[in-house]
Amino acid sequence: MVHKVILDTDPGIDDAMAIAYAMAHPAIDLLALTTVFGNVSIQKATRNAQYILDVFGATEVEVAQGAKVPVVQAPLPHSEFVHGEDGIGNCYPESEPALNSAAKHAQLHNMSAADYIVDQARKHPGEITLVAVGPLTNLALALEKEPELPKLVKQLIVMGGAVDEPGNVTPLAEANFFNDPHAADRLLAHDWPMVVVGLDVTHKVMISDTHLARLRDEAGVTGDFLWRSSRFYVDFYASKGAAKDASERQCAMHDAAALVYLVEPDAFSLVSGAARVIDSGIASGQLALDQKGYQYATNDWADRATGNAACMAVDAERVLDSFLDNIINHRIT
Ligand code: RIB
Ligand code: CA
Repeated sequence: MVHKVILDTDPGIDDAMAIAYAMAHPAIDLLALTTVFGNVSIQKATRNAQYILDVFGATEVEVAQGAKVPVVQAPLPHSEFVHGEDGIGNCYPESEPALNSAAKHAQLHNMSAADYIVDQARKHPGEITLVAVGPLTNLALALEKEPELPKLVKQLIVMGGAVDEPGNVTPLAEANFFNDPHAADRLLAHDWPMVVVGLDVTHKVMISDTHLARLRDEAGVTGDFLWRSSRFYVDFYASKGAAKDASERQCAMHDAAALVYLVEPDAFSLVSGAARVIDSGIASGQLALDQKGYQYATNDWADRATGNAACMAVDAERVLDSFLDNIINHRIT
């Protein structure tokens, strides 16, 4: 079975890893990248999406630009300190490539990301998998335009949130949910089905410099780009991130793990239940999943969809092998 995918993304170094895997995997048909603010501004996210597709030789994939700010809250600072000033480890060429000037470049669609998502879901009911690896703003806007969206798409896979694992922006919040908690909470009100691939599993799938060097040496231009762009990200992890005390230099490959879930769901264990995302105060961005279906004292979880799930455990070796093997097998020079 080949999955038709729209990848909603804020590229982003681990977003580039996700795009590389989506291009490489024979069971993924990547229809488009829809862009969103997050790691960088919307202008940089869109520019990076087009540039990454150019580098990976995937210029037939369309790009639709999306939201520049969250649905309710004021925008928070971008994450240049994690992903570099340009969002891709300072690998964006100094003399700007002439994007959109010729057919060999990935083209910018004239629809907004939210309109594009709705349009494709209506044209291909039950066929499209949405994979969202940035703040969920575009999807919340698409849901507002088309309330039947959860029934029109095949599934929704989200990289975001943390249930038992500590957050990566605050002790409670993961970056994508923190950047637009209202959007995440709106989506979780519906049964899609939606699967959250959050820090509970992505922090267990660390890609090391040994793995990244293998990509550099064996995966052509894609591997070379992933090696170069990950230098900044690996430095961040070594200095401040979760891998500070690791024996080898490494980083998380968050967004790529969401795509591995699509094609290898058996590598993950899920817990489903009613979920909320806290949208203000010091717990803003926290994913609060009712893992027990308990009768609580308030109704805040009572009317929520219960068919959505979060990944709580993962076979990390299997995810890493799938990532490396598929990108190396798809080598382009
Ligand atoms: O918390 C990890 C997520 O935040 C990833 O999607 C990464 O790209 C950043 O946006
Ligand atoms: Ca991302």
